[in-house]
Amino acid sequence: MKRICMMEDIPEREARSFETEDGDTIFITQRDGAFFAYQNLCPHLQVELEFLENQFLDRDQEFIECSTHGALFDVETGLCISGPCQGDSLEKVQIQVHSDGGIYLETEQE
Ligand code: FES
Repeated sequence: MKRICMMEDIPEREARSFETEDGDTIFITQRDGAFFAYQNLCPHLQVELEFLENQFLDRDQEFIECSTHGALFDVETGLCISGPCQGDSLEKVQIQVHSDGGIYLETEQE
């Protein structure tokens, strides 16, 4: 289990991207005090979601948005609710929040 950041690094309704040891890019966002992490890959064309650094949410900070064609994804489930890949989902990354305030990545060996 690897600590990727601290809770305070990801304010409510914001998102941050991180590189994992495997070379994947993931992002973590906070909604209503809970944290959600996904692979930074749009299911439409397998491209990264953001044009600007850490800009993963739409203007209202309500949904995750792909900046290429504007697909919108539910923050809690990663399901695409609008756009060319409607019905597909972002790939969820398993994380755990520990009492030290750290957000940890669950690695496959565990
Ligand atoms: S690449 Fe994301 S919506 Fe087309």
